[in-house]
Amino acid sequence: MSQCETVGSVFKGGESMRLTMRLAERSYDIIIKQGSLKRIGELVNLNRKVLIVTDNGVPATYSQTVAAQCKQPYIETVEQGEQSKSIAVWQQLLCRMVELNFTRGDAVVAVGGGVVGDLAGFVAASYMRGVDFINVPTTTLSQIDSSIGGKTAVNLEKTKNIVGAFWQPRLVVIDPDTLKTLSKRHYAAGLAEAVKAGFLADSELVRIFEEEDCEEYIEQIIYRSLIVKKNIVERDERETGDRAALNLGHTIGHAIESACSLQADRALYHGECVALGMVPMLESEALCNQLIAICKRLGLPTECDYDKQLALAAMRHDKKTDVSGAIKVVKIPKAGMFRLDKVPFEQVEAVLLGTADQIPAPKKEEEE
Ligand SMILES: NC(=O)c1ccc[n+]([C@@H]2O[C@H](COP(=O)([O-])OP(=O)(O)OC[C@H]3O[C@@H](n4cnc5c(N)ncnc54)[C@H](O)[C@@H]3O)[C@@H](O)[C@H]2O)c1
Ligand SMILES: [Zn+2]
Repeated sequence: MSQCETVGSVFKGGESMRLTMRLAERSYDIIIKQGSLKRIGELVNLNRKVLIVTDNGVPATYSQTVAAQCKQPYIETVEQGEQSKSIAVWQQLLCRMVELNFTRGDAVVAVGGGVVGDLAGFVAASYMRGVDFINVPTTTLSQIDSSIGGKTAVNLEKTKNIVGAFWQPRLVVIDPDTLKTLSKRHYAAGLAEAVKAGFLADSELVRIFEEEDCEEYIEQIIYRSLIVKKNIVERDERETGDRAALNLGHTIGHAIESACSLQADRALYHGECVALGMVPMLESEALCNQLIAICKRLGLPTECDYDKQLALAAMRHDKKTDVSGAIKVVKIPKAGMFRLDKVPFEQVEAVLLGTADQIPAPKKEEEE
């Protein structure tokens, strides 16, 4: 069973939010607190060799703040961007650890967004068959989504996340203050995953997005989104069932993302594509209007001119249809509720081609 708590005891003085991920292999805490970057040493043993992986888009003060708390810190700064999630960079980091005589008792800390988290996590998973990994996510996307769930990976040539491992961190430290330096566009794109979490399983989160000032509510937005993900992941750690719900907006979103990535002038961020991909999965006009209004408030796109044939080709390439040609999608019948549906591939295709706006609601007997 999961347990969520707000505690005053994690740090001396001041409340922080703590979530404990309870998993079969091992459990770990996620701490959400402003200013926690300076206090990681109070929460985990940094009295050892620590490889701190960051990228050159992340303000250097963040990794330096972590280094100042370690006995033997080594900061490794990779190029910002998806291209650093590569076998070559992964190998460089492992070579550095060998050169520095890292042992199984030493640790890797990621300070950055999802790129750094996925890369450093896979380094930690693979060095000497696994060393401690501590994740300090610094983008909305990584604080809300990618830092929990235990997925680590690098890309192989053009195939994303194809080489990796499930490797749970020892600790995740989320300091929302680090978001103050993030670009507005990245900030909004990451929030799309929180909007997704709201529509999946938390209608109060949807209300916050509709009515409140998101920057003011950011701790709560992060906390509530993580609870949604945590509850789903704990039920299905290795993605055999319900975890597929987290793919809401991703089936169509991924197709748009790859079509756009091939057109330099149209590149969209992942979260922006997820927002676009969610709209056809909502089962009423009222829900669609609700989501579109939220996207506009957050500065997320509500339409995009992509190359339909490229998107379709991408969809055909990564479609996971069963023998009958049906594809599994996540639908939202009501804010805070989801269902996994199998629909004919043609229905998804029609949305991508722009000949339909929605995936039709299922007939009663098709419901799972
Ligand atoms: N493991 C998972 O479960 C999971 C889930 C979703 C996405 N991902 C992965 O996450 C990656 C995307 O992550 P992302 O959106 O965080 O992108 P990112 O890591 O590329 O970060 C975005 C940009 O912001 C900069 N940045 C990071 N923190 C900053 C800060 N505090 N202030 C200023 N600049 C900052 C980075 O240098 C980068 O240029 C993708 O590779 C994706 O595959 C993984
Ligand atoms: Zn996503």
